Amino acid sequence: MTRPRIMTGDRPTGAMHLGHYVGTLANRVRLQDAYECFFIVADLHTLTTNIEREKVAQVNQHIRDVVLDNLSVGIDPERSHYYLQSLIPQIPEMALIFSNLVTVARLSRVPTLKEVMGNLSISEESLGLLSYPVLQAADILCVRANLVPVGKDQASHLEVTREIARRFNFLYASEERPVLPEPDTLIGDVPTLIGLDGQAKASKSLGNAILLTDDAATVEQKVRGMYTDPNRIRADIPGRVEGNPVFIYHDAFNDHKEEVDDLKERYAQGKVGDVEVKRKLAAAINRFLDPIRERRAELERNPRIVEEVLAAGSERTRAESAETLYLMKEAMGLMWGAQQ
Ligand code: TRP
Repeated sequence: MTRPRIMTGDRPTGAMHLGHYVGTLANRVRLQDAYECFFIVADLHTLTTNIEREKVAQVNQHIRDVVLDNLSVGIDPERSHYYLQSLIPQIPEMALIFSNLVTVARLSRVPTLKEVMGNLSISEESLGLLSYPVLQAADILCVRANLVPVGKDQASHLEVTREIARRFNFLYASEERPVLPEPDTLIGDVPTLIGLDGQAKASKSLGNAILLTDDAATVEQKVRGMYTDPNRIRADIPGRVEGNPVFIYHDAFNDHKEEVDDLKERYAQGKVGDVEVKRKLAAAINRFLDPIRERRAELERNPRIVEEVLAAGSERTRAESAETLYLMKEAMGLMWGAQQ
């Protein structure tokens, strides 16, 4: 029996953090048996915001980081296919076809576009940045994925993917026998993890995230500096648990649930100091990261692991994408020489 397909992935822009874990990595690990999984390292997507020569020069290192981060949380490359976007020539070809199925006005309304432009002070978007979701649609549809586990910020891109698939099927296929499946979105347990500083989102570029590669001492130091209830200037003042980053992280990462309940109760009553709450959080996060650290050390014993995983996964994905592109062109009647 063929399993339904999952497809998701990351841009290689740096080390991954706890926000990625709860947003999408946990789902990847959990679903890798029930689904056939394709994971992309979207190196071409990094060009949309990092086109400078020095930034491009960093991509190779970041590809390594991202693949190792994924494998170290427990994704098994024997069961899943890891592919590098730039090794799949069918992806840009599909993206070019798809670019005719969506309007500029529609892409201009994608909320992440304004967000990225604001964050990076881009006053006029490039064609590449505008069509980011079109390239992403090709990433997803080239393997005809059924489910895409992502963080909440990516939901609007998935909407574009579905619209493109629907439009393609409407134009060239029948409703009963679509060529391109419309994939569903799967958002993680913690759709957006709050930053250590209390900002809406943990992000590497904002420096408010715990990396999967942070060592125990770094975790302790970052947790000590976490934003907590600002009104609580003494341990005997009742504190706010709701919305407090320290407790959001306890809920997400502390496997000792009774400890968390006990801390919350005492915190609300003004019977526990921030120092203890944070010390227990740092210990919990380090317990969570320990097996990830061990797996990573194990993986790094093979210095060619990333090359091997990407070569095998990309080969498999090229075969799949060639078939998808064939089916698309066949449906479109875009095959010179094939018709009588
Ligand atoms: N845009 C995604 C991000 O920034 C990365 C990505 C590229 C992706 N192609 C994808 C995610 C396809 C899911 C499916 O996180």
